[in-house]
Amino acid sequence: MLQEVVENLAIPKNGRALDLTLGLGGHAEALLSKADSSIRYLGVDRDSEAREIAIQRLGKDERFSIIASTYEDVWETRGLQEWMIQYAPDGLDIVLADLGASSLQFKTPERGFSFMAEGPLDMRMDTANGLTALEWLEQQDETTLADILYKYGEERASRPISKAIIKALESGKLRTTLDLANSVYTVLPREIAKRKKRIDPATRTFQAIRIAVNSELVGLEQTIEKAVTALKFCGRIGIISFHSLEDRIVKQTFRRLAGIYDGPGRESPKAMPKFLKIISPGGIKPGETECAVNPPSRSARLRLAQRMPCDI
Ligand SMILES: C[S@@+](CC[C@H](N)C(=O)[O-])C[C@H]1O[C@@H](n2cnc3c(N)ncnc32)[C@H](O)[C@@H]1O
Repeated sequence: MLQEVVENLAIPKNGRALDLTLGLGGHAEALLSKADSSIRYLGVDRDSEAREIAIQRLGKDERFSIIASTYEDVWETRGLQEWMIQYAPDGLDIVLADLGASSLQFKTPERGFSFMAEGPLDMRMDTANGLTALEWLEQQDETTLADILYKYGEERASRPISKAIIKALESGKLRTTLDLANSVYTVLPREIAKRKKRIDPATRTFQAIRIAVNSELVGLEQTIEKAVTALKFCGRIGIISFHSLEDRIVKQTFRRLAGIYDGPGRESPKAMPKFLKIISPGGIKPGETECAVNPPSRSARLRLAQRMPCDI
C-alpha cells in the first residue's frame, strides 16, 4: 500500500502528519521523502522493538518525532499535547493508521505471532505490558474462548477448536505457537486445507487470540473520532485494515462522521453533522504487483476521507 499511501496522503508544504501506527517507519520514510523541510511528522507505536528500528531509520530527520503509546491513549499524553501546541496549533493535515501486526512481529518467532515457526505463545505488541497469549488462554473457559474465536477470527469451527485448545492446556501440552497450531490441526487438518489450496487452518485462531491479547479493536472507533477532530478543514485521514472486522469499524465510523444514515432508529440524514467526506467509498486495494510480491497484502484495504468543510 506504499504507493497508494504516497499518492493519497502527500504532506503539503508546512503540513503536519500524525502516523498512529508507525511500525518500522516504511510509510513514514516514503511520505517524508516526498515532503519539504517545512513539514513535521509524528509517529506513534506501542512496540518498543519497532520504535527502535524506526528511530534508526528516521531519527536523524529533524522533521520526525516519535511517541511510545497506543493510539487509544496517545491523545492524553503530554508528548502529543506538547507536539500539537508547538507544531500543529491549527490542527493536522494528515492522519495515517496502518492497523494490525507488523512484518517484524510476524517474522520474529520469539514474539509468538506466527504458526510458521516455533516460539513462545506471547503475541503482545507491547512486550512490557499485559498478558501473554499463554497467560490469557489460561484464563479462558471453553465457551468464552469459542466465542472469541468466532467473533475475532470468524472461525466456524470455534467450538471444537476451543475444546482442543483447553484440553491441550489442561494436559500441559500447550506452550508454544506450534502447540497451538497443532491443536487447531486436530480439528481442521492442515493437509486437507493444503490440498484444497485454502489458507492455513490456524490463521483464524491466531488472528482471534492476537486481537484479544492486544485488545486490538477496542478504542478504534474513538481513535478515528479523535483523529478527525484533530484534522484541519480539508485535512485527510487514511486507514489501512487487514481484515473485515477492522474494516467494518473504519467504514461504519467514516460513514457516521460523513453524516450517512445507516439504518433504522438513527437520526435522519439531514440532522446528522458532516465532519467528513468519504474519498474512496469502496476503499482502495493494493495493486496486482504488490499482491504478487506480498500475498498477505491481498486482504489490505485503504479507506480515505477528508475533513469537512472543504471547498478545494
Ligand atoms: C502494519 S504495522 C505498521 C507498519 C508501518 N506502516 C510501516 O510502514 O512500517 C502496524 C503497527 O501498529 C502497531 N500497533 C497496533 N496496534 C496499535 C495500537 N493500538 N496503538 C499503537 N500502535 C499499534 C503495531 O505495533 C505495529 O508496529
